[in-house]
Amino acid sequence: MSDTRHLNVTDRDGRTHTVEGLDGWRVMEIIRDHGLPIKAECGGALACATCHVYVDPAWLDKLMPATDEETDKLDEAFEVESNSRLSCQILMSAELDGLAVTLAPGSEP
Ligand code: FES
Repeated sequence: MSDTRHLNVTDRDGRTHTVEGLDGWRVMEIIRDHGLPIKAECGGALACATCHVYVDPAWLDKLMPATDEETDKLDEAFEVESNSRLSCQILMSAELDGLAVTLAPGSEP
């Protein structure tokens, strides 16, 4: 069985890209490493909120709940919704193969 996981990323123009990553990779890194437009200014240090994504509601209960630190930082993002997460805090796993996220306002590089 392959360890390659798939991530569906909808960009700010509404285009959806299917990209691949491995278990343990941060969703933010998978998006960035495929050249999709994400600012992710702090590189995953939970210091910027510019890796903000909206998670497809169908996937929400498969994610690890946000930590208090993530929730605090998310407060600094624009247009936060109930399905908002910081993509540097989501680690790819077998359970998340096929995860769908949409880049949120403020994540533009
Ligand atoms: Fe800065 Fe996620 S990349 S908080």
